[in-house]
Amino acid sequence: MTRRFPMPSFPVGWFQIAYSEDIDVGDVIPLHYFGQHLVLFRGEDQKLGLLHAYCPHLGAHLGHGGTVKGNSVVCPFHAWQFDCTGKCTDVPYATRQPKRADTKAWHVVERSGLILAWYHPDDEPPHWDPPAAPEYGDPEWTDYTRKDWTIRSHNQEMAENAVDSAHFHYLHGTQNIPATEAERNGHILHMKSPATMTYKGMPVEGKILSDLYGFGYTQTRFFGIAETCLVSSATPIDGEHVHVRFNFMLRKTLAGSLIEDPAMLEMVSSKFRSAVIRELEQDIPIWENKIYIAPPVLCDGDGPIGIFRKWVKQFYTQSQYERIEQGLDA
Ligand code: FES
Ligand SMILES: [Fe+2]
Repeated sequence: MTRRFPMPSFPVGWFQIAYSEDIDVGDVIPLHYFGQHLVLFRGEDQKLGLLHAYCPHLGAHLGHGGTVKGNSVVCPFHAWQFDCTGKCTDVPYATRQPKRADTKAWHVVERSGLILAWYHPDDEPPHWDPPAAPEYGDPEWTDYTRKDWTIRSHNQEMAENAVDSAHFHYLHGTQNIPATEAERNGHILHMKSPATMTYKGMPVEGKILSDLYGFGYTQTRFFGIAETCLVSSATPIDGEHVHVRFNFMLRKTLAGSLIEDPAMLEMVSSKFRSAVIRELEQDIPIWENKIYIAPPVLCDGDGPIGIFRKWVKQFYTQSQYERIEQGLDA
């Protein structure tokens, strides 16, 4: 089968795999991301463990029937136990504990209610720390309003959307083509766009500031009518599909807002969220059916796509390209 995208399927970075509030002490859940089966659990010390799903003993899936004892996950098949570092902590019926019984553990962090896992194809430890969103947990801001999709595309294709200025007008119907500016800063891409919004029939000059921390984790802040923070994530499932999650927070106090009535603020904000969601849903049929062009034929009105394409190179490794050349996916 020919590859749909020339770049490796799984870029380096932090990617959301779950929400903190969805996994309590004692919970064990199966996951499938990065083309791999995984198990996530929370021990009694509150710490999360993300392990290779299959038990090194005889291969049971720890996420289907596994339980938590102390700070370890217990395999449902013969009760071998593994802690969040992947260390085998007990084989209850062995008189001598076997060597090499440890399993692979992934780096996980909890940031602003999201559980993020570090992906590196050669198992290098994290190159950076994903930042929290200060709005999360602040009494001036609402909790998340969540929405998610599974989309048949690639992380890089979807991230490129933000710097593709012209499509905002022609696909999404914005009044003008926004003058988006992008600046590379190591693994971060800072973006700034002016945005003209309409309130009570009057144009309001706003702006959108967006920080991409690799391909997996983005914080976007909208200023203008009602201040909104969108923490979004995009996690590769396999070589063909990406799990996208949007998490909106609205500033509850009226500072930074043109609107004086809180009920009106929520109504306007909900309309605003729907508009952002509608934009993503307009992108889906393009993403699911397009091909990737490299190098693209660009014109002077296209926005900072060139800057973006330089920035993305750091998220793939030489070893991944070598595996692709050998006919093995990476
Ligand atoms: S397969 Fe897990 S303990 Fe035997
Ligand atoms: Fe778009």
